[in-house]
Amino acid sequence: MTTVELPHDPWSLTTARDADGVMTVAGHRVTDLVAEHGSPLLVVDEADLIARATAYRDAFPGVHVAYASKAWCTVGILQIVSRLGLWIDVASGGELHTAHVADVPMEQVVFHGNNKSVDELRMAVELGVGRIVADSLIELERIEQVAADAGITQDVWLRITPGIDAHTHEYVRTGHDDAKFGFTLSLGLADEAIVAAKALSHVRVIGIHAHIGSQIFGTDPFIANADVMIGLLARWRSEHGITIPECNLGGGMGIRYTHEDHPVEIARYGEAVLEAVERACAKHGIEVPQLAVEPGRAIVAPSTCTVYMVGTVKPLPGLSTWVSVDGGMSDNIRPALYDAEHEVTLASRSGSKALRRVTVVGKHCESGDLVRERVGLPEDLAPGDLLAVAATGAYTASMASNYNRLPRPGAVIVRDGVVRKLMRRESYADVAARDFALD
Ligand code: LLP
Repeated sequence: MTTVELPHDPWSLTTARDADGVMTVAGHRVTDLVAEHGSPLLVVDEADLIARATAYRDAFPGVHVAYASKAWCTVGILQIVSRLGLWIDVASGGELHTAHVADVPMEQVVFHGNNKSVDELRMAVELGVGRIVADSLIELERIEQVAADAGITQDVWLRITPGIDAHTHEYVRTGHDDAKFGFTLSLGLADEAIVAAKALSHVRVIGIHAHIGSQIFGTDPFIANADVMIGLLARWRSEHGITIPECNLGGGMGIRYTHEDHPVEIARYGEAVLEAVERACAKHGIEVPQLAVEPGRAIVAPSTCTVYMVGTVKPLPGLSTWVSVDGGMSDNIRPALYDAEHEVTLASRSGSKALRRVTVVGKHCESGDLVRERVGLPEDLAPGDLLAVAATGAYTASMASNYNRLPRPGAVIVRDGVVRKLMRRESYADVAARDFALD
């Protein structure tokens, strides 16, 4: 086998090409994987996933690193990440159930969400979830009730909206004041929450939390967030006489989807955040709290690529060339929803040196069904070729749908000499499984 011709990031650690030009992951030819497991197929590079989870853990010594499972919540992924010592953040009953099935220690689970139902809260309390993140006064009351019914006192973090406007896509900003999440600090809602919580007898506030957004590249917004949060802990200590021992600074470090993206390395990000916390604590004269962070994308996205088969190539003279693949917005909504760009390459062979500018689209009945607009791919690209799309481990499978009743793709996780199924491909029977025929 020849060595890596594809540069790493946005491609996973063991992505390479063999002597025939076929893309390989951990030495497995994507052509063989698709022949065995069908197309489209999500291919997870286990070494990459482990390397990134470990890098996060090492960049934040002494900090609870919780994997934000909304990025990709499947039993196998949670097993791997949890066994590396990471905690798991869940944001719904379904994610919590998956963590339970994956045997994640429940004291290492953090339960998020801006509208957790009473049933979900009951489930969390019954399972013994370590921390529930309260998002509103209504929810604090709900947690109190559910915990009282169960005869326990529940550890809770308060979600703070810190007033930090991270420059990222509008749909993935969460820290600015006018947001649906959390207690808005500038409006005094966080103070109201801590006062209200003090009066509850089955809720114990042991931490505060803020997540400012996602796919953020620089360290400055994270440093600003750390500053605000430590300032809040210090103020509550002096004004309310409360010492809150834990502080979760959220997730959100971006990744490289294309060669134009330049996120900060995980180690530097860790250093910058920890330094900011220490500086702020020294300034306010308080002890450094037990910190937590909750990355999702940066752990799982780069480990995975989606392999599609080209079905048609349509050159329109003087206009565009359209390349259609056998999936699309149902398995990756990101280009349609956020104008996201993922790197694309011909994966089943090297192809001609000469490139042609094409737009890769899916097979859905919608013009917004883009895989990648205007990308250079070999001129001789033809039906039957496989295209690989990089960094699809986060927010693709987890946001997948059955639009046009397409079965959702399967996923395999590969390492040297071993291919394991993570999720089977859906069948047509699965697609219609919830329907009732009417007489
Ligand atoms: N913590 C909380 C409370 C969150 O809401 C999120 C993401 C995270 C942590 C993890 O953020 P990350 O490290 O993955 O950036 N679907 C969008 C991203 C939505 C992010 C939602 N919350 C996308 O495909 O870009």
